[in-house]
Order: sequence, then structure tokens, then C-alpha cells
Amino acid sequence: MSKIKIKSGTGFAGLKIQLMKYRQIYMVCDRNVSEYARKISTSYPLLQIDATEERKNMDQVLEICRWLLSQGADRGAMVLAIGGGVTTDLVGFAASIYMRGVRYANVPTTLLGQVDAGIGGKTGVNFQSYKNMLGVIRQPEFTWIVSDTLKTLPPKQFYSGAAELLKTFIIKDPHSYEDAVSVLSTTKELDSLKPLIARAAKIKASIVSRDENEKGLRRVLNLGHTWGHAIEWYQRTHPGTGDFSHGEAVAIGIIQAAVKSEELKLASPGLSDKLKADFAACGLPTQLPFPIEELQEAMHKDKKSEDSAINYVLIRRIGKVTVKKI
Ligand code: GLY
Repeated sequence: MSKIKIKSGTGFAGLKIQLMKYRQIYMVCDRNVSEYARKISTSYPLLQIDATEERKNMDQVLEICRWLLSQGADRGAMVLAIGGGVTTDLVGFAASIYMRGVRYANVPTTLLGQVDAGIGGKTGVNFQSYKNMLGVIRQPEFTWIVSDTLKTLPPKQFYSGAAELLKTFIIKDPHSYEDAVSVLSTTKELDSLKPLIARAAKIKASIVSRDENEKGLRRVLNLGHTWGHAIEWYQRTHPGTGDFSHGEAVAIGIIQAAVKSEELKLASPGLSDKLKADFAACGLPTQLPFPIEELQEAMHKDKKSEDSAINYVLIRRIGKVTVKKI
């Protein structure tokens, strides 16, 4: 059982103290959040990257490795990833292969990063139009959640993270789910969200620490991702058809999972209607936007398919999910 370390604070003070433990620190940040990197330090070397899904590829990983080499980073290096899920995935992967692996830590600056992508050690890049097709699982030294970074988060990214927050509570915590719906459908205040973010991060860490390599339990975290990844694949391969964020695609996928769970009589009737109403109130999409046959084709190619079966995460009730091979 691996220990997943998550720390949090409103600002950067605690993180700065933590970093004093390391001899060689290299910061890699999403260009859009370089102000946060500078708040952490003006003296650590800093590389700014374009952290977009289109540029989440091996070229960019090699660029980070080239930069580390040019800076003289050796096996004692510690690489700090500052940004959203694309940044932490790219930097974590580069750190995992540079000199056969150096330490890295995540400072996720998006809601999605703070409750999901920045925790649990999944790193990697997109390949041949499939998401996260190449990568490794390697735990960061720690994930440091700085809630102030959410103050400047664009709405689209906020909703993307909101979906993953709700997903986590549908998996494990019905009370927090209701609390989250109540905050997200009304004020969206950061002060009310902070304890929910901490709770979701803790749930994720606890699941990952029991099944780091996704052989069983961790699969529950893919709730909504079977359809979600297919929606993302469709809009990548059919430019101009849609602009759903990862979380929005996952939200639609969760509704599909609820519908399927009712069809299979795993869930009581009404679950999907409740989730639809909650998600809509929180500003999330709920309807499948593309032809079902084409989405099904993408699903079979998704890396979550094993021996031509899909590990489909179904919902028994809010707070309890189950994985079935379909
Ligand atoms: N995002 C799902 C996981 O980390 O397993």
C-alpha cells in the first residue's frame, strides 16, 4: 500500500517551506499560470509550456527532458509541475523517464487537478488521437493544493473540475455529494468548496493507495470515463463538432452509466433523473451529443478495454458503484 501525500493551504507559504528540503528544484509550469510559479520562487529555474490537449504529446515530453538536461539536472533533481492536469501529466511523465526517473511533485492549479489529475501518479501523453495512450504510473513526492489558484480559473475549467468533484462523491460519499450540489448550483463560493476539495482529494488518495496500478478498486475512478473519453475522441477526430471539456464529457458519461445501471436493475429507477437534474443545476451537460454507434467504436479502442471487454463503472446508488466487464 503506497502512501499518497496531499498537503494544502490557501497560499504558497507552506509549499515554500516544504521545498527547502530539496537541493535542486526545477519548475515547469503552464504558461498561463506563470504568476504562481513566480510566487513559489524567482530563483528556481523555470520552463513555461503550452499545456493544451493538442500539445500533450511526446514532443513536449522530450522538450522538458531537453530543458532539464540543459539546466544540468541530475538524479537528485526534483521537478515541480505547476498547472492543470495536462501539465502534471506531461511533467510527471518527463520526470519518470528522465535519467530513469527523478522526483517530481504537483501543484495543481485547476479544480480538476486538485481533486483528480494531480493525485495518484497517472502520467502520460496522448498518442494517435487516443487520450493518455502512452504513460506510466509514478507517484509524485506530494501534491500541494493551493486554493487561491482557483480564484482566476476560467469558468469552462471550473465546470470541468466540478464534474470530477461530483464523480468522486458519487463513488464514495453521498453526504458530500449533496453538499457539493448545493454549493455548485448556488454560490460556488471558494470558502464552501475548500473542505469539499480536501474531502475529494482524500477519497482519491485513499482509493489509489489501495490499488495504485488499477488492477481492481482504482477502476471505480473511471466512472463516466467510458463515454467521456469516447466523446472527447469524437470531437478530436471530427473538428468543429463539439467543445466539451474533459469533465463535461465525464458528466455526460456518468448520466449514461446511471441509465445503464437502471436498465440492468442495479440501481433503483429515478437515479439517472436525479443526477440529470443535479448536474443541470450545477451547469453541467447531460445529453449524449454525438452518434451513439461512432462513440461505441471509440470505446472499444479506449485503453480501458481489456481483452476486448470494457470495465464499465456502474452506479448502485449515490456513494456506491460497481465495475462490470461489458
Ligand atoms: N483519473 C482516474 C485515476 O487517476 O485513476
